[in-house]
Amino acid sequence: MGRTLVIGKPDAFEQGLLGEIIGRMERRGLRLVAAELRTISKETAGLHYAEHEGKPFFDELVVFITRSPALVMVVEGPEDTYKIVRTMMGATNPVDAAPGTIRGDLATEMSENLIHGSDSPESAAREIGIFFPGLS
Ligand code: RTP
Ligand code: MG
Repeated sequence: MGRTLVIGKPDAFEQGLLGEIIGRMERRGLRLVAAELRTISKETAGLHYAEHEGKPFFDELVVFITRSPALVMVVEGPEDTYKIVRTMMGATNPVDAAPGTIRGDLATEMSENLIHGSDSPESAAREIGIFFPGLS
């Protein structure tokens, strides 16, 4: 079994697409272990996106991820669950995301791409520890 951190981002909340995101993952066979609607603080955003600190888009990314509630989830499935979710998300830039993916079907802009998913088992463990310390 594997677990990954998924965030339905503020744009998904604002557009009423959180159910769509959960539904796609559940229909795929993945299951929720934890889920919480919360407005992410700037401090938590900085920890979560630490790898991007200093990049030109970092400040905009923090403003975005903190601007409305987000649905923070731990999702469980087979060993490579993080990879299943990443494939379902589609490319970071929705312009490049394949039809059938969440970003390819529902988003058009890099800065408003609806969903976060951990990019490796190590990232998943680190990110689950940030948002759900009781689980790790
Ligand atoms: P995420 O972490 O949010 O799941 O997205 P990701 O892995 O597909 O992409 P990542 O490289 O981790 O970037 C995090 C978020 O930063 C924004 N971004 N903008 N302007 C740019 O070059 C640029 N690069 C990344 C995107 O909103 C991306 O989701
Ligand atoms: Mg990322």
